[in-house]
Amino acid sequence: MIKTQILSADSASLDKAAQLLSCGEVVAIPTETVYGLAANALDEAAVKRIFEAKGRPSDNPLIVHIAERDQLFELASEVPQTALRCAERFMPGPLTMILPKADCVPDVTSGGLDTVGIRMPSHPTARELIRRCGFALAAPSANLSGSPSPTSFRHVRADMEGRVAAMIDGGDCSVGVESTVISFEGETIRILRPGFICAEELSEIAKTVIDKGVLEQLSADAVVRSPGMKYKHYAPRADVTVVEGDAEAFRSYVSKNLDSKTMLLVFGKEDAKGLDADFVELGESAEQQAQNLFTALRTLDDMGAEKVYARCPEKSGVGLAVYNRLIRAAGFKAVKV
Ligand code: TXA
Ligand code: MG
Repeated sequence: MIKTQILSADSASLDKAAQLLSCGEVVAIPTETVYGLAANALDEAAVKRIFEAKGRPSDNPLIVHIAERDQLFELASEVPQTALRCAERFMPGPLTMILPKADCVPDVTSGGLDTVGIRMPSHPTARELIRRCGFALAAPSANLSGSPSPTSFRHVRADMEGRVAAMIDGGDCSVGVESTVISFEGETIRILRPGFICAEELSEIAKTVIDKGVLEQLSADAVVRSPGMKYKHYAPRADVTVVEGDAEAFRSYVSKNLDSKTMLLVFGKEDAKGLDADFVELGESAEQQAQNLFTALRTLDDMGAEKVYARCPEKSGVGLAVYNRLIRAAGFKAVKV
């Protein structure tokens, strides 16, 4: 256990955080998507500390966070035209681009790959901190490996207090699901992890395909383009089943399969009408669902849910990101009703 400093987002605190990061320490920081566990991306020893704090397998690469677009050219050995257009349109914002890595990026950061994921967060605290550091920050989501990504400061405290040098309280994250991760194949954009920047928007830049791993469980011998896909993710303690169908079919299915430890993950109160079970609401719009999902999964755990039936999000737009996280939380367990 180490003593974790709790910092606010004021200027003096950011100087303190930048100083710790310059000394190779790990600091939990707010971003617009989820909280991150940051360290100097170019300092091997510092990056190793992230993996230790998180309990993360070391072949899972980290995203490198920048404050200005120009840093792309320092960290990537090549930036294709399509990537440049994506950067102009979506950076800063919740988008991570996988590019061939420059020599300065250590293997620990890229998980031994010859590529690096680069993202420029729009969160003012994150960006200002990177500016003050003067170096890019490697940062995975600030959860313990296997639990839902933290979208509010109390989640970060619950998972990381005593494991990192400091944490910055930036309140709740506005997006709520992690960044969209994309790679480039010639002119084509491939979505490896869906997020708030959706396929429909990326299609306006170039032809966009959604990787198989986004919607399905990859078989053991499948080509894994993003190592994060092969790990069990976002797992609450409860046994989650995604129930695909409209609200009425959902109610009817649940009513036949209800026992005393069953809880519901619904869009609105109407979905749980007439059912004798506690429920957590995600909201009706895909944006609300994205913002609330990870908190909802932690809440269900806190409520002692053993079994959870969840309504199925839309598989398009921002909804695809919500679906992708939820189906992993459910260990790909889904029923069509
Ligand atoms: O919104 C976000 O992206 C948050 C905040 C903190 O920025 N970060 C985040 O990092 O979600 P993490 O480490 O939890 O997820 C990064 C994902 C992993 O699935 C990883 O495998 C993939 O991105 N990734 C990173 N670098 C990659 C690379 N070079 N090639 C393929 N996939 C990569
Ligand atoms: Mg993560």
